Amino acid sequence: MARPIQIAPSILASDFARFGEEVKAIDEAGCDWVHVDVMDGHFVPNITFGPHVVKAIRPYTDKVIDTHLMIAPCDPYLEDFAAAGSDLITVHAEAGPHLDRSLQAIKALGKKAGVSLNPATPENVIEYVLDKVDMVLLMSVNPGFGGQSFIPSTVEKTARVKAMIGDRDIDIQIDGGITTETAPLVAAAGANILVAGSAVFKGQGVEGYRENIARIREAAEKAQN
Ligand code: DX5
Ligand code: ZN
Repeated sequence: MARPIQIAPSILASDFARFGEEVKAIDEAGCDWVHVDVMDGHFVPNITFGPHVVKAIRPYTDKVIDTHLMIAPCDPYLEDFAAAGSDLITVHAEAGPHLDRSLQAIKALGKKAGVSLNPATPENVIEYVLDKVDMVLLMSVNPGFGGQSFIPSTVEKTARVKAMIGDRDIDIQIDGGITTETAPLVAAAGANILVAGSAVFKGQGVEGYRENIARIREAAEKAQN
């Protein structure tokens, strides 16, 4: 049985002046998770927001707050993101020399842990941490900005990671350039959590977001094996 498709809109593409309302809107529009892109201007060439924004949006949804840390180092901030209300915290394998330690720290905070790989990073770097993660996040763009084009090699990488995971209880999330055209490609290869920024927020308000979320979900579900 394929794992259920979950849609995680990224608030990176939302109206920053109205975070609370935007989170409420995607929640009402039927999203599964809320994806929060944290950038530091060092690990990635852009700066977004930190744990205070997670804390501020927490009251606006009961859904999973999925925090994608594109920061280095990450360890000094894990506790703050956990305390702010993140349900799942994802760190990049490239963000430091001690990935195993970072994942252990997230687990010790009582949170779900994810590991992310940039497009150019081979999947074998996660081989020895699969027992510590709830999710593998494969970047399908170079992290830092929304609205970029999907990198096609992600499809083959997804299939390889799916094979590595075997029957372990681990989700595969894809982030970057997800649309109704690219969602089926990664769903067919074994991904089940789809992040979508521009493809969701290009709509207007709850109804627009609802339609976009439903279309991506439908396209992905049809393609699942
Ligand atoms: C990129 C971020 C993504 C991004 C996705 O660094 O991690 O989550 O917001 O945006 P779209 O869906 O517009 O490619
Ligand atoms: Zn992200």
